Amino acid sequence: MSGSVVIAGLGPGNDALVTPEVAAALDKATDIVGYIPYVARVAPRAGLTLHPSDNRVEIDRSRHALEMASEGKHVVVVSSGDPGVFAMAAAVLEAVEHGDPVWRDLDIKVLPGITAMLAAAAACGAPLGHDFCAINLSDNMKPWALIDKRLRLAAEADFAMAFYNPRSKSRPEGFGKALKALQEACGDARPMIFARNVSRPDQTIKIVPLTDVTEDMADMRTVVLLGNSQTRIIERDGAPLIYTPRSVDG
Ligand SMILES: C[S@@+](CC[C@H](N)C(=O)[O-])C[C@H]1O[C@@H](n2cnc3c(N)ncnc32)[C@H](O)[C@@H]1O
Repeated sequence: MSGSVVIAGLGPGNDALVTPEVAAALDKATDIVGYIPYVARVAPRAGLTLHPSDNRVEIDRSRHALEMASEGKHVVVVSSGDPGVFAMAAAVLEAVEHGDPVWRDLDIKVLPGITAMLAAAAACGAPLGHDFCAINLSDNMKPWALIDKRLRLAAEADFAMAFYNPRSKSRPEGFGKALKALQEACGDARPMIFARNVSRPDQTIKIVPLTDVTEDMADMRTVVLLGNSQTRIIERDGAPLIYTPRSVDG
């Protein structure tokens, strides 16, 4: 069995943020598997077959990739950002664990990419400069009660936070509920950052006090960051700089 599966992160959108390691894996691939808009980021060429698929078929897509690798193909499964952050790496490994035992003998590698929260943080300074956590606000794969609990405990522990999948057409009310929980648990006007289409030509960064945010400020192209209670804003001409100090007194 000489095929392989590489699960690769394409970064947040700008080709300059695709790592050389990922670019080399794409160059060697015989087959690319992934969600339609991510596969569209890979240039077609002779000898390369593209297999775009819809969003909610992660396990089917993973099995397909593993089956092709079992036949000797060199498959790259693409994700945006980093493949281990709310993306395909865990899905492929879940398929390996529960699938055909021969898949365990395949050459399987995960190649990191620049995840949206890190590109967004860099675009406005260093809001994740101290301890932080990342929470997926979609309740497609976990109950809302668990999201609410994690939001409140993260606020209590004074983590800075990053929120992925904040609001979609099929989940219009979730982000409003998350904001309510955060406003109650934080009780202050720390900055919330709405970073949309980060690293792309139409990137926007909006910084809004937590007390003033509204649910319509985020969509599925937005990653949302929230400072901790110590996060600072440096006002200056042009866009402010935001940072969370690296040290905490006491
Ligand atoms: C299914 S998650 C995938 C995350 C991806 N694996 C990563 O590491 O960035 C999709 C969510 O990532 C965030 N996201 C991905 N790319 C982004 C970008 N360029 N700008 C802003 N948010 C982005 C959004 O919150 C979006 O709803």
